[in-house]
Amino acid sequence: MTGTVKSAAAIGGGVIGGGWIARFLLNGYDVKVFDPHPQAERLVGEVLANAERAYRKLTLAPMAPKGKLSFVSSIEEAVCDADYVQESVPERLDLKRKVYAEIERHAKESTLIGSSTSGFKPTELIEGLATPERLFVAHPFNPVYLLPVVEVVPGQTSPDNLDRAKSFLTAIGMKPLVVRKEIDAHIADRLLEAVWREGLWLIHDGVATTEEIDDVIRFGFGLRWAQMGLFETYRIAGGEAGMRHFMSQFGPALKWPWTKLMDVPDLTDDLIDIIAAQSDAQSGKHSIRELERIRDDNLVAIMQALKGNDWGAGALLKEYESTLYANAHSHARPPTVDPGKPLALHADRVREDWVDYNGHMTESRYLQVFGDATDAFLHFIGMNKHYLASGRSLYTVETHIRHLREVKMGAPLRVETLLLGFDQKRVRIVHELYGGPQDELLATGEHMLLHVDTTKSAASPMDLSLSIKLGEVWKHHRHLEVPAYAGKPVREIMMESAAAS
Ligand SMILES: NC(=O)c1ccc[n+]([C@@H]2O[C@H](COP(=O)([O-])OP(=O)(O)OC[C@H]3O[C@@H](n4cnc5c(N)ncnc54)[C@H](O)[C@@H]3O)[C@@H](O)[C@H]2O)c1
Repeated sequence: MTGTVKSAAAIGGGVIGGGWIARFLLNGYDVKVFDPHPQAERLVGEVLANAERAYRKLTLAPMAPKGKLSFVSSIEEAVCDADYVQESVPERLDLKRKVYAEIERHAKESTLIGSSTSGFKPTELIEGLATPERLFVAHPFNPVYLLPVVEVVPGQTSPDNLDRAKSFLTAIGMKPLVVRKEIDAHIADRLLEAVWREGLWLIHDGVATTEEIDDVIRFGFGLRWAQMGLFETYRIAGGEAGMRHFMSQFGPALKWPWTKLMDVPDLTDDLIDIIAAQSDAQSGKHSIRELERIRDDNLVAIMQALKGNDWGAGALLKEYESTLYANAHSHARPPTVDPGKPLALHADRVREDWVDYNGHMTESRYLQVFGDATDAFLHFIGMNKHYLASGRSLYTVETHIRHLREVKMGAPLRVETLLLGFDQKRVRIVHELYGGPQDELLATGEHMLLHVDTTKSAASPMDLSLSIKLGEVWKHHRHLEVPAYAGKPVREIMMESAAAS
């Protein structure tokens, strides 16, 4: 884990607090929660269940072991040993100030305090605090466990505390965006409020329903916004002449004006009834929890598509996953090679979405476990993200898996890895997968890896540092027994078993 933050506290566990709690826990941080709501545990539990479901779909990268969740009965208990405190109580200035004073009284001097406020400026929040240098706005977006951006607004926050906050938020997969100047409602909610206000007018004036407004967004500009935002999209809309042409063509229209600007329709009972009825007709067939799951699945799909294009939120997901792999493998990394044994670098368990209609781990997941074990081995011999960034990598060019036994959901898995040989361009390894209640041999996977220059997509000799590490492993593994099945093609194995029967 990055920075100095090792544990977190959440003050308030509603819609936003629950999302923060899930993000902290699923990134391996212990969280103490204070929320006086009588059903706080149930509500947080439901958000956490949705978050776990979403993460299983979001990434196959090995997540850190889940942090420990505890509910406590006072702010003091929640914050006394926390390194990071996130406040997510209702949007009332007096309440928030009271909560900060209480946090300040009981937290360590180094504890960082983030506020989820959607609208207040940090200088309003810190009034009366003795240590304003550790408080900042950390305004997230719902669902906090999936949407990466967090608007970080410093008030009198010290540069060191700001850096610590940014590195912690980055470590939990977020994109901290530091807001240059404090302003009511930061950046995003100012934009959203303008769109929302205009939407209310369109309904009030009978121009469109809630569904029609949502349709122009989701079938149209919302798709553009998810990948390029506003200005890059308009640059393209200006044609070859780009932004200048766009400004000259559409800029004057801003003065007509098309929109109602600051005017707000009166939120009369009649208008609220119309909006609520239209919303029921549009979405009432789903419960809120169902809608959350539909939303999460769609967000995951968008982020994964963007990952394929190495763009926007997808590029961030890719970077986050590479950190997860690096962390997982460095935690598992033994200090030295144990002379008489294969390497033990990777362990997992059969996750609930890994099983097929027979209730057993499905075929493709064996390859995934072996792929993760190979990544752990490569990390062990020094193929880290700096090596990859230098344009060199090891690609798997051949795989032979033998499926020996089935294994059920939830069963622990562990992999032993044996180096069978290597030269300057090739590495041959075999993994044995053990698991289930009796820790039996479940499968074997033999792999040939080729060292490549990724800029040319051609085989190339590996760096001396990798050969030296492989040599250290080989010094021991050359004395271990090579499994009888290693190197045998499927045809030979079939002929042998035919001859034996
Ligand atoms: N809902 C959103 O989309 C959204 C998005 C970003 C930021 N925010 C901000 O997040 C904050 C929380 O909003 P929310 O939507 O989660 O509200 P919410 O009503 O869902 O949750 C607030 C929680 O705070 C608890 N609470 C009340 N008093 C408390 C106290 N003294 N100590 C500890 N807990 C207390 C309540 O029991 C409740 O569970 C607000 O500042 C809001 O502006 C909301």
